[in-house]
Amino acid sequence: MNLELNGKVAVVAGASRGIGLYIARSLAAEGCRLLICSRSAEAIGQAEESLKTDGADVASIALDIAESGAGEQLAEAVSNAFGRVDIYVGNAGGNRRKDFVDTTETDWHEMMSQNFHSHANCSRAMIPLMRDAGGGAITFISSIFGREAGGAGLSIYNTTKSALISLAKIMAIELGKDSIRVNTVAPGSIRWPGGSWDKRCISDPEAMAEFVSSNLPMGRFGSAEEVADVVCFLSSARASWISGACLNVDGVQSKSLI
Ligand SMILES: NC(=O)c1ccc[n+]([C@@H]2O[C@H](COP(=O)([O-])OP(=O)(O)OC[C@H]3O[C@@H](n4cnc5c(N)ncnc54)[C@H](OP(=O)(O)O)[C@@H]3O)[C@@H](O)[C@H]2O)c1
Repeated sequence: MNLELNGKVAVVAGASRGIGLYIARSLAAEGCRLLICSRSAEAIGQAEESLKTDGADVASIALDIAESGAGEQLAEAVSNAFGRVDIYVGNAGGNRRKDFVDTTETDWHEMMSQNFHSHANCSRAMIPLMRDAGGGAITFISSIFGREAGGAGLSIYNTTKSALISLAKIMAIELGKDSIRVNTVAPGSIRWPGGSWDKRCISDPEAMAEFVSSNLPMGRFGSAEEVADVVCFLSSARASWISGACLNVDGVQSKSLI
């Protein structure tokens, strides 16, 4: 299948490590030119170098996308580097696990900013550039816990990830006339070297074996490559009739029927 991604320009927000870096690698392997960002200048510089070593045409910027004005900075950076943008992947996100009663206004403000406002602001700033390019593809990385209840302690994470799915649907309706498709991907538990699940598997293998046996019907964690490949497909012309969708990438970990 030819994804027709060669020469397209992609912005991956939150790409210094983990799923975001694998998405950047996967898009680069298909011939995309990339602007990647993360908060840590050192980490994003290392990611840029490693992608360049693999032959990618990539630029990077150290940027906290939760900060006011980050969208405009990202749009300026991609314009300066490549003069256009075709793809935005909103990957950056985090979790702050605690019972709702213990959450604070600051917790909510910070996590809504990191997981939701960041991608709302950055993707909005991409729209004029995508219109100039004749269309585009926006993909937000949500979670299966944006589609169904994750359980106690996850009020902030669940809410922010659900909000991304809602936003994407409405954006998809409004931007269809501009040939801009907007989708979300909902990963289940994804293990990548050095990631949070990997650390837990190393520090407590018995508990994690029990977790896998109880929660992951395919008997293993998902990989970051498996998420990245779906994002690549959704970003490509082969997904031209998919917009407003949320795709689980979870090896049937989630229980929701829709
Ligand atoms: N891993 C899983 O099992 C799993 C499951 C479901 C959903 N997800 C979602 O998938 C996404 C990636 O997960 P992951 O495990 O790869 O996460 P991760 O290891 O925390 O990586 C997140 C990336 O985003 C960057 N980032 C975070 N906040 C940022 C900000 N405000 N501005 C710019 N960059 C920022 C981080 O770099 P800096 O720290 O340098 O900024 C890093 O490059 C997240 O949205 C997560 O919620 C993950």
